[in-house]
Amino acid sequence: MERQTAIPLRERNIILIGFMGAGKTTIGQLVAKKLYRDFIDVDAEIERRHGMSIPEMFAQKGEAYFRQIERELIVDLCTNTRLKILSLGGGAYLQEDVRRVCLAHGIVFFLDLSWEHWKEERLPLIVDSRPVLKNKTLEEVEQLFFQRQSAYALHHSRVVINELEAEQAAKQIVDSIKWTWDVYEPNR
Ligand code: S3P
Repeated sequence: MERQTAIPLRERNIILIGFMGAGKTTIGQLVAKKLYRDFIDVDAEIERRHGMSIPEMFAQKGEAYFRQIERELIVDLCTNTRLKILSLGGGAYLQEDVRRVCLAHGIVFFLDLSWEHWKEERLPLIVDSRPVLKNKTLEEVEQLFFQRQSAYALHHSRVVINELEAEQAAKQIVDSIKWTWDVYEPNR
């Protein structure tokens, strides 16, 4: 069996996870800019490669198909790329293979947002554009929100973003990552 050497921390992809509408894309773009790295939004990459929007893919091919495409892309990006900032769709991290490759090869940041903040501030902005929210009552969405927290709890670092602007959240992530690099990989 091929022996895997651990990727140096400074070269690992930085991966943002969290519930839909938490700001993974906006914050990821800011982190990428601050670290002079490329940013990949997994949903946008799926849309680009398959020539259809995520809602179209859900409608035409079904959620199971989307989850397979999503999983394969994330496994590929985590295994074959370095030095990237990746933002994952909110449901991606529910898949065990996705968690495994992200935690093994990347540095995973959980963007943590309370249910109250999410419901008041984020839900109105995304309710019409996320197929997973379609035809669900608020109680069902709340259930989904809390069900997913146990998967999101498997991360390397967490940023509570309730009261933060995207710029402040990005700065916290960058400060934390630089601290980690300096402590665990000094003199590089
Ligand atoms: C999903 C979240 C979406 C997108 C798809 C499914 C989910 O991404 O991947 O609509 O299951 O939570 P965002 O987290 O960027 O909204």
